[in-house]
Amino acid sequence: MRILIASPIFPATIEKLQEEHDVVCAFNAKREELKDLIRDRQILTFRSGVSITADVMACSPDLKLLIRAGSGIDNLDEDLVHGRGIQLVRIPEPGAKAVAEMSFALMLALARNLLQADRLLRQGKWAKHELTGYLLTGKTLGIVGVGNIGSRVGRLGAAWGMEVIGYDKVVSPAMVADLKEKGIRLSTFDEVLYRSDVLSIHVPLCESTRYLFNAETLAGMKRGAFLINLARGGVVDERALCHELREGGRLRGAALDVHEEEGDGKMSPLAKLPNVILTPHIGAGTIDSQREIGKRIMQIIASFSAKQELVRSQARIQAA
Ligand code: MLT
Repeated sequence: MRILIASPIFPATIEKLQEEHDVVCAFNAKREELKDLIRDRQILTFRSGVSITADVMACSPDLKLLIRAGSGIDNLDEDLVHGRGIQLVRIPEPGAKAVAEMSFALMLALARNLLQADRLLRQGKWAKHELTGYLLTGKTLGIVGVGNIGSRVGRLGAAWGMEVIGYDKVVSPAMVADLKEKGIRLSTFDEVLYRSDVLSIHVPLCESTRYLFNAETLAGMKRGAFLINLARGGVVDERALCHELREGGRLRGAALDVHEEEGDGKMSPLAKLPNVILTPHIGAGTIDSQREIGKRIMQIIASFSAKQELVRSQARIQAA
């Protein structure tokens, strides 16, 4: 098969694919380069950080399979993909485990001032009595978006002795039962805002979630709360968040793994604030998760390639 790998994936997966297929790798390619490289490709695998826009798709007449090596598809023109009958396969599970753990890592780092503690110690300052933090145990953890990732975060919170409340736009009866079993009580968006000591965001980016956390909704949050965003940058208005994190604002701290602007040289307005932790979209980036995603990519391509071969041999028989 002719494959374009447009974002870094597990290196051993690339090596194995190269043994059997015609593989082109183009990480961080600009749009024009992508348009050029995709021309004869049948399969495209990609992650966040690359935009698969309509004009890129227009240059890919042979494209039959899109593999999203992760979860979010906000960087893809989904209608166009379906309209052209291109198969789209997402691999959300492995990354979900890593993102949920990262949410917890950020919660603990915020609550216990871990980054400041490390910085001060390296400067020779023994701030044992200044660096008082907060317990998570006994606090309320709010989750906006209780799907695959959010429900995992909730389960971790419940295990940590937190009261966990969650909100989602659409919840099926099966989900309600599953969430209850994980220790998550469903609530309204407003209650999650005003009751949560820690609020973790896990919604996809779409029209209804763009700037879901804006000046108005952030002002509805509990005074002294921590906000964590591992979903997508566009879900939080960073300027409004800056306002609530400054002296006199409602929030005690925030941690963001995703940003309105991502990539080398891009600087979040939140970078000026000391009570903020910023990471470069590494939530799903554990070796374990990426290895698992790599294995799934191999399986997906193997089964797709076998089906293509079957179609070709049937066409040969009919032609004979
Ligand atoms: C995802 O949606 O799975 C994450 O953004 C991870 C990634 O693709 O980098």
